Amino acid sequence: MEAARTAVVEKPPSLDALLALAHADMAAVDALIRKHMDSPVPVIPALADHLIAGSAKRLRPLLTISAARLAGARDDACLKLAAAVEFIHTATLLHDDVVDSSQLRRGRVAAHLIWGAPSSVLVGDFLFARAFELMVGAGSMPALEILARASRVIAEGEVLQLTRAHDMDLTQEVYLEIIRAKTAELFAAAAESGAVSAGAAPERCRALRQFGQDLGIAFQLVDDALDYSGASGELGKNPGDDFREGKATLPLLLSMARTGAKEREFWTRTIDRREQAEGDFERVRELMRQTGALEATLDLAASYAQSAKAALADFGANPWRPALEDLADFAVMRRA
Ligand code: IPE
Ligand code: IPE
Ligand code: MG
Ligand code: MG
Repeated sequence: MEAARTAVVEKPPSLDALLALAHADMAAVDALIRKHMDSPVPVIPALADHLIAGSAKRLRPLLTISAARLAGARDDACLKLAAAVEFIHTATLLHDDVVDSSQLRRGRVAAHLIWGAPSSVLVGDFLFARAFELMVGAGSMPALEILARASRVIAEGEVLQLTRAHDMDLTQEVYLEIIRAKTAELFAAAAESGAVSAGAAPERCRALRQFGQDLGIAFQLVDDALDYSGASGELGKNPGDDFREGKATLPLLLSMARTGAKEREFWTRTIDRREQAEGDFERVRELMRQTGALEATLDLAASYAQSAKAALADFGANPWRPALEDLADFAVMRRA
């Protein structure tokens, strides 16, 4: 019995295989990122370096490279796209930390607290522009179209989220629409643009887009759980930001629904009236423990990760495929 139980325990997901396969490509992407963050205007490289040299996981460029190589890419067109994808992501983080009043990013003091919000927003714009230069340099009009659309959809997602903060009646449907736009769209576009630049058949590009989209939804669901359960030392950002900002993420929506009338006054005060006091965040965490809201959020993330893996079904034997499956598992099990 014991042996049987031990046998089904899965090994913890690791990105080692994927990182080994992508090692040379990712080193080249890193060199492109370093080269393109330069500018004669001094505050730009200083601020960009502060963020770019922090504890970034580089998952999105890794996805572009892996999708391109899985789809058979032999040349290096995907490298510029991968660097562009990381620039788009980094630009959104600069803007997002201003919008969310976040104090810690990638294990460092948030850039807007050092250089001010105006510089942070403008350097975000610089990084977006750099991304577009790189995409044009990659020479694939379809890839440019995919990533340009993603940039627009992310902005729509962030604005939609902003206008729905403090909304206790947000539905799970709208929550999913928000995370699909603000996060999953870039994962989807990262994978699809890699496949497109490799000249893959349309059904392969669609499959990789689907993989990226489901992975991205799983990733954001876990991010939203970690905002309540994570530790700043591991996360490199402060848990509690979502509650403070009154963001109706799934853990909060489930806790509100599952505590019912009993806690109505608590939720109305802290989320709707925005009156938060010392100890409220700890109380929310306790209510989440009681209601199983975090487990339910992680269960949904796991089902999206499963669906991401299923999207790779037609790729056959190729070392990139199991490595990408590990990425889907990692997105759910991660602590950072
Ligand atoms: C943070 O993304 C923004 C979200 C979509 C949750 P990551 O967790 O990938 O951030 P870095 O790039 O590793 O810092
Ligand atoms: C993701 O949402 C932000 C973007 C897509 C730009 P969050 O606001 O949850 O991301 P973190 O937690 O600040 O990294
Ligand atoms: Mg944020
Ligand atoms: Mg978050």
